[in-house]
Amino acid sequence: MKKIDNQALVIFGASGDLTYRKLMPSVFDLYMNDSLPDGYAVLGVSRSKLTDVEFRKRMKEGIKEFSHFKNAATEKINTFLKKVFYLSIDTQKSEDYELVKNKLGELNKKLDLHHNYIFYLSTPPQLYPVIPKYLYGQGLTLQQKGFRRIIIEKPFGHDLKSALELNKLLTDFFGEEQIYRIDHYLGKETVQNLLVTRFSNGIFEPLWNRNYVQHVEITAAESIGVEGRGGYYENAGAMRDMVQNHLLQVASLVAMEPPAKITSDEIRHEKLKVFRSLRPLSGEDLRHHVIRGQYTESHVKGKHLVGYRDEEGVDKNSRTETYFAMKFFIDNWRWSGVPFYIRSGKRLPTRVSEIVIHFKPSPTRLFKSVDGAIEAGNQLILRIQPDEGILLKTGMKVPGNGYEVKSVNVDFHYSDLKDHYIPEAYERLILDCMTGDNTLYMSGEGAELTWKFVQPILDYWESDPDAPLYGYPSGSWGPDSADGLIEGENQTWRYPCKNLADDGVYCEL
Ligand code: BG6
Repeated sequence: MKKIDNQALVIFGASGDLTYRKLMPSVFDLYMNDSLPDGYAVLGVSRSKLTDVEFRKRMKEGIKEFSHFKNAATEKINTFLKKVFYLSIDTQKSEDYELVKNKLGELNKKLDLHHNYIFYLSTPPQLYPVIPKYLYGQGLTLQQKGFRRIIIEKPFGHDLKSALELNKLLTDFFGEEQIYRIDHYLGKETVQNLLVTRFSNGIFEPLWNRNYVQHVEITAAESIGVEGRGGYYENAGAMRDMVQNHLLQVASLVAMEPPAKITSDEIRHEKLKVFRSLRPLSGEDLRHHVIRGQYTESHVKGKHLVGYRDEEGVDKNSRTETYFAMKFFIDNWRWSGVPFYIRSGKRLPTRVSEIVIHFKPSPTRLFKSVDGAIEAGNQLILRIQPDEGILLKTGMKVPGNGYEVKSVNVDFHYSDLKDHYIPEAYERLILDCMTGDNTLYMSGEGAELTWKFVQPILDYWESDPDAPLYGYPSGSWGPDSADGLIEGENQTWRYPCKNLADDGVYCEL
């Protein structure tokens, strides 16, 4: 277990939902796992006028609802909260940052924080350019006595131009090694397991290339809608919200070459090579290999679900996509000619994130399969969530006369491990920042390259009023036209269920 130096975590946007649901419960998880040093402080900063006591009360509710240790004894939670503080400022006013400086000075004296500070920006993105500048103005970014790090929540930019500007601005006030661009998918235990699966087993890596892989599929499906975030989502959409960041990051881990060492520099270097090899999207790709959809009203399990355009904060004529699918290629030695398919959407039948490696079918058809799965080829499924695990679909003889073949599952579920503690992604990522390890954070160049790749899609949608936007009923697997993306005989998307081993179009809802 990593033991860390004394320090303060300063959260800007402390009265927001992310702090309540994810950040504070994760810091409490760290506390419960004995990962925090004795000298720690969490300072919430926001505009709302709250006292320490009021803030702690609210944070306690969040912990009791969302922490891994939600049932911890109240005294334990109270002891943790004694080192949680609150400061109300107007983040737009430079002079208010003196209050931050003074408060940190006071906490330093009281709790011996060794002058180590992490600034976590969990605010609306309009404040991203402001806060670093004013922190700098107070000398709070200079690493003279202790370390100074900054964590930036997504969205990291709205498009290529704004991402470039943001990178430029941040590096005016912080060194690249002080900047932690968070992508919580990289903090997921099962995403990290991808590296272990690939590079610790002798049997997968030799097959992990264009000679044996037919195509790669990455899905992040959600059954929820926009859940009161219509205002934000309306300006984002599925592509900006899930694909440019989370899914392309996952794709880079699927596709990268083995790093020379498991260090931040080596892994980032290999991921960047993947991003640099993304084949730029042509006009043909934009028209035929990118599909967007928007959920419409429907009844699911007897419940009426409103269409996206009727959600709060959403324009009645909105053209924002709640579903996105695309096919693309990575033009390098390993992956030349292998299609990658990515899809993500809200109001799909179930919540599932997984990677499917579709292997080429056997070259001869000696046997007849009863379910068609063998003609489609073996599949290796790496399940990110839920029912985390690994599944290999392979052909087996149906007992009895003849040689009929059927697909069976060879599977491992994390839940089979007796003491399986899967840390929340934020717990892992905050701890990494506290120890100065940025391996699982995005590099500035990585963020820019992924924006560069998707920018033509944004331009196409903006400039062509005829660019299709398909409606799909809530609770379905998205627009039918997405099925047409997958090339090859017998090939379709996998329609996963909540439990790893099951699939089928009629998955549990
Ligand atoms: C966030 C998106 O980054 O990821 C949300 O903004 C989405 O819209 C969420 O619901 C999904 O994360 P997870 O961890 O639940 O898969």
